[in-house]
Amino acid sequence: MSTSLHESLDWKVIGDNLSESITLVVGGARGTGRTIAENLLKMGARVAVSDLSAERIEAVSTEFECYGPRFTAIVGDATDSTDARRVAAHAADTFTALHNVVYSAGAYRAQRPTLEVSSDEWDLIVDSNLKGAFVTYQASLPHIIAAGGGALVSISSLAGRTSSPFLGCHYSAAKAGILGLTRHLAKEFGGQNVRANSICPGGIVGTRMTDLLTELHREQDLADLATQTPLGRNVYEQDVAAVTLFLLSDLSRFVTGATIDVNGGILTI
Ligand SMILES: NC(=O)c1ccc[n+]([C@@H]2O[C@H](COP(=O)([O-])OP(=O)(O)OC[C@H]3O[C@@H](n4cnc5c(N)ncnc54)[C@H](O)[C@@H]3O)[C@@H](O)[C@H]2O)c1
Repeated sequence: MSTSLHESLDWKVIGDNLSESITLVVGGARGTGRTIAENLLKMGARVAVSDLSAERIEAVSTEFECYGPRFTAIVGDATDSTDARRVAAHAADTFTALHNVVYSAGAYRAQRPTLEVSSDEWDLIVDSNLKGAFVTYQASLPHIIAAGGGALVSISSLAGRTSSPFLGCHYSAAKAGILGLTRHLAKEFGGQNVRANSICPGGIVGTRMTDLLTELHREQDLADLATQTPLGRNVYEQDVAAVTLFLLSDLSRFVTGATIDVNGGILTI
């Protein structure tokens, strides 16, 4: 910040801070990550998106072609340290620096009884939702610190604060783990001007939720969930993107180690 901490907020500085930022969105080729990337691009920021799915990377590359050299996309498995280093280096090399990382990646499996969950399934869910964040941040932090600092935002889940009616024990465990990782990173890297925060959305209206509820034959449950929130509706990707942009911007300059619920107040009931 170029203004004194006592001065009123300089909205131009805050706007510039975000529009001039360079962000890597991991798991950004679909869903919430894609929507976060699009919002950043619309603000004028430079954005790198990575994803495990080559097909989705190809689709988002075509879709975001209109943003020209401010956008780049790369295939990578966030759980693999070689891939994660390659992805972080690609973002930093393409844009000459890296300030922020949003971790929105993760696999899911429809809920089944805990006694029937195989250790392979546990590994898939915990690795892609938790280990991938650790590996990604480990690969990205040297670039962020070299650039003078930045922000990490992890998309956890309401399931990490409670449990999920649709997803299993591994998912809740991984999403709760993200909250601990966030607090640790906030403490360890605060001195290097890096902030780390998590967002816990409730069930998000989108492709993943539709596929999941169809698989479980519980299509009606999303509408039922909406009636349980004080605000009377479900979460949309744009709701999560808005909080993510806040956490990436200087508007949240003194927020770190925090868990922000985006669930319409469902935990008040
Ligand atoms: N959809 C929801 O209802 C909901 C609710 C709360 C939290 N979340 C969390 O928000 C995040 C985004 O969810 P979404 O609905 O956009 O999901 P999504 O399935 O639409 O997108 C997730 C993306 O992550 C990618 N991915 C999976 N494993 C990966 C890996 N190892 N490396 C790199 N990329 C990988 C997938 O290919 C996919 O494109 C996830 O972490 C999810 O757990 C989702």
